[in-house]
Amino acid sequence: MTDNGYLCANEIHKEYKIGKTSLSVLSGINLEIKEGEILIILGASGAGKSTLLHILGMLDTPTSGHVSFKGENLSIAGQKELAGKRNRIFGFVFQFYHLLPDFNALENVLMPRLIGKKFFKTISKKEHTEKAVQLLERVGLGSRINHRPNELSGGEKQRVAIVRALMNDPEILLCDEPTGNLDTNSGREIKELIWELNEKTRQTVVIVTHDERFAKSAGQVVRMADGKIVNYSGN
Ligand SMILES: Nc1ncnc2c1ncn2[C@@H]1O[C@H](COP(=O)(O)OP(=O)(O)OP(=O)(O)O)[C@@H](O)[C@H]1O
Ligand SMILES: [Mg+2]
Repeated sequence: MTDNGYLCANEIHKEYKIGKTSLSVLSGINLEIKEGEILIILGASGAGKSTLLHILGMLDTPTSGHVSFKGENLSIAGQKELAGKRNRIFGFVFQFYHLLPDFNALENVLMPRLIGKKFFKTISKKEHTEKAVQLLERVGLGSRINHRPNELSGGEKQRVAIVRALMNDPEILLCDEPTGNLDTNSGREIKELIWELNEKTRQTVVIVTHDERFAKSAGQVVRMADGKIVNYSGN
């Protein structure tokens, strides 16, 4: 594996120390995600999928090995620049949405700006709000902008979370079980939304999922077991 690809995992190992024993969770992961593709990571519970996704997205660091983005080693970035770099490169979508209950859909989408002002210098508050409204409309939530999370369905909550993740124009959208908490229909709609994003804007996406339906139309499918990649297929 080289560092020449778009996003690359190079010989990633992750171990957790628990007392005197150490638990190996990832054992030598090599992976290249291509620009503009959808890559799916499948595998049983405990296989190490979330750990790998977190390492790819700079939310966690490997015990050894490194992640590179456009040839740059992300695993050695200093703590100070790490958050800024992560914000610029990645958008995150999680199974349980992580929306703030006391804020409406629009406010939730705007929240990263309120928390991390310095990452949004290039765009005014008005433009930022307009962009949020446009994106919410685009995902079919035009009439739900003022709804709080408890007034939204699971699928709608996940749409809000996806819009929030897209506000930064991330290079790569990382999704951990984005349909894991949804019924079949809402799950299908979220899948279609992600595929539409990928087709229309060439958004690069990495999805960790148990849902085999995701695998059918993905660019690459990776299967993990016991911290290793056991099967790999490119479409
Ligand atoms: N902070 C931690 N300390 C110790 N062990 C951990 C820690 N985080 C994860 N693990 C262990 O690492 C292994 C992989 O966990 P991970 O969350 O990556 O699995 P997963 O494939 O995402 O599973 P699931 O499909 O259930 O979400 C599990 O055995 C888990 O118990
Ligand atoms: Mg997981």
